[in-house]
Amino acid sequence: MSKFGVKWCFGLILLSAIFICVAIVKLPNYFKNYTVQRNSDVLLHSCSIHCPAIMNGDKEACQLGNHCQKQVKPETFHIQDPINCTRIKQEYHFIIGSLSQEEASYPLAYIITIHKEFEMFVKLLRAIYNTDNVYCIHVDQKSPEDYKRNVKKLTDCFENISVASKMEHVVYAGFSRLQADINCMKDLASSKVKWKHVINLCGQDFPIKTNREIILHIKSKWQGKNITPGIRQPPNMKYRTEYSYKQHINNDKSYVYRTDMKKAKPPLDLSIYFGMAYYALTRNFVQFILEDARAKALLEWSQDTYSPDEHFWVTMNRLKDAPGATPDSTWEGNVRAVKWAPNAGPSTEGCNGHYVHDICVYGLQDLKWVVEQQDMFANKFDMSSPLTVKCIEKWHRNRTLSQTSATIQPHWYLED
Ligand SMILES: *[C@@H]1O[C@H](CO)[C@@H](O)[C@H](O)[C@H]1NC(C)=O
Ligand SMILES: *[C@@H]1O[C@H](CO)[C@@H](O)[C@H](O)[C@H]1NC(C)=O
Ligand SMILES: *[C@@H]1O[C@H](CO)[C@@H](O)[C@H](O)[C@H]1NC(C)=O
Ligand SMILES: *[C@@H]1O[C@H](CO)[C@@H](O)[C@H](O)[C@H]1NC(C)=O
Repeated sequence: MSKFGVKWCFGLILLSAIFICVAIVKLPNYFKNYTVQRNSDVLLHSCSIHCPAIMNGDKEACQLGNHCQKQVKPETFHIQDPINCTRIKQEYHFIIGSLSQEEASYPLAYIITIHKEFEMFVKLLRAIYNTDNVYCIHVDQKSPEDYKRNVKKLTDCFENISVASKMEHVVYAGFSRLQADINCMKDLASSKVKWKHVINLCGQDFPIKTNREIILHIKSKWQGKNITPGIRQPPNMKYRTEYSYKQHINNDKSYVYRTDMKKAKPPLDLSIYFGMAYYALTRNFVQFILEDARAKALLEWSQDTYSPDEHFWVTMNRLKDAPGATPDSTWEGNVRAVKWAPNAGPSTEGCNGHYVHDICVYGLQDLKWVVEQQDMFANKFDMSSPLTVKCIEKWHRNRTLSQTSATIQPHWYLED
């Protein structure tokens, strides 16, 4: 063999060796990928969702569920013109009629601030709707016109649901968010319904207790008292009230920004607290908020602070002489179950959905944890995972129906 031929032969052997090595390393991957692909094809063709197993945290059911998210037929909430209220209440599965004497004798008021996702709003509303209660819906002024129109048309079907008589353009962390609640409070203060506590919600909240259980929770420890979880303002939250903040309002993008102006001390020597924007307040306390000189002064002073809804309620409820005040309480009250992002809050639970503003938007595998919590509501849910919302609402409706002695009408069951 010539020298040239030896080189060729050697080269050929080397090349083949490389090829065989690559094949050995890579082929199993191809097979693996193929089987994964095959499996998910099979799964997609057998998308029978099993919510009870998902609520139990069954891993396979959750995995199948995740593969099937896109297969879930969305429930469409189309508002016809003219709207037939009798029909819409049935088609949307609203429970009309009192469920128990206990609930009838303890009416609640709700403030719901929303800005998007009409489907999510209907799902939340039908979960918390109870004919004994009264509801004020604040729709963000910047929401699309057809969204506002649909909310108005739907709520007009119910005597005890109304939209706020004054709507704000809500800016994240801005004063407008607090003002929205106050607007609804003014409406609710003059309601004929003798509501005992008012609870505020946003569009991404969902109840994890039934109406009956919420009342029992309030009666057990908080009868005649306000629930406003929070503590004395910690040093790392001082920036929120030390400088003057302004809202930049624009239809495309609104935000709050800090100015260089230092703020004056809080009015009337008030000690500022820090806590949750979500609460359960007594009617007398709401009246007090609307009338008391300290409340008015603090509200005025809070106009240019950062996220004033996270200090206003808790500060007022720590005043010893406020109606229903809880001057010595801290974070208790079980208002919200929240999974915070690492370093953003107390819990270290992982999130199986995704984080928005450092808070977990729940996925299927979070649901077991969610319903194990003692809180009245959980945050956040949205239509990025339709199946998560579907399973939690079926779980909640099932629980509600299992606690009533009223005659259950067929349309009270949610669709599969
Ligand atoms: C197998 O799938 C993974 C993820 O989908 C991909 O990154 C990888 O390149 C694939 N491997 C092969 C050999 O196709
Ligand atoms: C409804 O609750 C009952 C028990 O109260 C349970 O047996 C059933 O599986 C539940 N159904 C769903 C769809 O969760
Ligand atoms: C509204 O719907 C109800 C129930 O489907 C039906 O009985 C009634 O006739 C409808 N009313 C009108 C005005 O169409
Ligand atoms: C709420 O509205 C329903 C009908 O829409 C009515 O039957 C009920 O009496 C109302 N409840 C109160 C407390 O006004």
